[in-house]
Amino acid sequence: MKITVAVFFGGQSVEHEVSIISGIQACCALNTDKYNVLPIYISKDGIFYTGDHMGDIESYKNMKTCLEKAVRVVLVPQDGRVALIRYPIKKLGNNLVGEFDVALPVVHGTNVEDGTLMGLLETLGVPYTGCDVLSSALGMDKYATKAVLKQAGLPVLDCVTVTGRQYTQDEDAILNSIEERFNYPLIIKPINLGSSVGISLAADRLSLKAAIDLALSFASRALIEPAVQNLREINCSVLGDADDVRTSVCEEPVTSNEILDYKDKYLSNAGDAGGEKSGMSSLKRRLPADISSVLEEKVRSLAAQAFLALGCSGVVRIDFLNNKESDEIYINEINTIPGSLSFYLWDASGINFASLLDNLIRLAFKRHRERQSLTFTYETNILSGISLGGAKGLKGKA
Ligand SMILES: Nc1ncnc2c1ncn2[C@@H]1O[C@H](COP(=O)(O)OP(=O)(O)O)[C@@H](O)[C@H]1O
Ligand SMILES: [Mg+2]
Repeated sequence: MKITVAVFFGGQSVEHEVSIISGIQACCALNTDKYNVLPIYISKDGIFYTGDHMGDIESYKNMKTCLEKAVRVVLVPQDGRVALIRYPIKKLGNNLVGEFDVALPVVHGTNVEDGTLMGLLETLGVPYTGCDVLSSALGMDKYATKAVLKQAGLPVLDCVTVTGRQYTQDEDAILNSIEERFNYPLIIKPINLGSSVGISLAADRLSLKAAIDLALSFASRALIEPAVQNLREINCSVLGDADDVRTSVCEEPVTSNEILDYKDKYLSNAGDAGGEKSGMSSLKRRLPADISSVLEEKVRSLAAQAFLALGCSGVVRIDFLNNKESDEIYINEINTIPGSLSFYLWDASGINFASLLDNLIRLAFKRHRERQSLTFTYETNILSGISLGGAKGLKGKA
């Protein structure tokens, strides 16, 4: 019997549209000899939809028509699989819209990639590809990522964080302490966004203030760190789990500005939405990166160590900042569900997109089997003789 793979994309995130592209790329690349493909789109207000047309990028050119043709569903666990039930249910007729064996989350950003969707899938008891709840959550928070990597002895830039509340209470003191700690230029980022949204470079106190305001309009905490000079960015993808880790060839994204922005990442080849040359795969890059073999080895080894330190699984992309003159190298961030699932990096490393997805699905079932062998219930008779001093629970409280 073919395995049914539910491909999840969309979600309430600034990377919603990019996720649609990544998700559809995955739908198109799955080997249909082995799998039935079930696209599940999560709207910006968190509603789940499905429909055959939802696996086709053309459908999203007119979102209104796309949703009118779609079926809104709820997810219900059923004998180790998940059933998609039409919502609201029809009084007559069949409300079972589909069922799946394994989930393939291709979501980017907050409210989905940060462990929330993984938590839902975990609760439903279904295997899913990629990072688990904790590694996804760690990867989404730029400060938490640094803390874990630093503890593991891996190179990250020092930083400070500031919450919106702290900043409004004592703006001057905070700006002073940042200036005492670091020299300009600085980089200011929202703690948990992606796609370069809300990130800016500050060369003085005035631009630092504007940059913190901007970052805090996207997230409740901002992260401030020194800007790496003579910047070269190097990305490397990692595939596997704690038992077996492989690293891809490295890429060097080419920026049009001082920082790699949204436009560089997704709009440099916007005419081919959903095709092989769109989403993160359209970025201008050097592939393989034009770096010495010594540096490449170092990046690949650090990428593998970071993957293990964060407890990752599946395919991730780890991004580095390198000062070309001084040779310093820092791990900048981890993308636990990288744009286009980094298929172009694996393609260049001898693993095509369909095999990459085969690997992800294999790892999902492996983790699921391993977790099932753990004990999650504890038989107890604690409730049989219980008395709460006469309290009757919630009965009669309304
Ligand atoms: N410390 C830094 N020094 C110099 N440039 C940086 C630094 N941090 C980020 N950048 C630039 O900003 C871009 C986006 O930052 P990043 O931390 O990767 O956020 P995102 O999660 O939005 O991709 C990077 O690709 C790089 O071009
Ligand atoms: Mg980045």
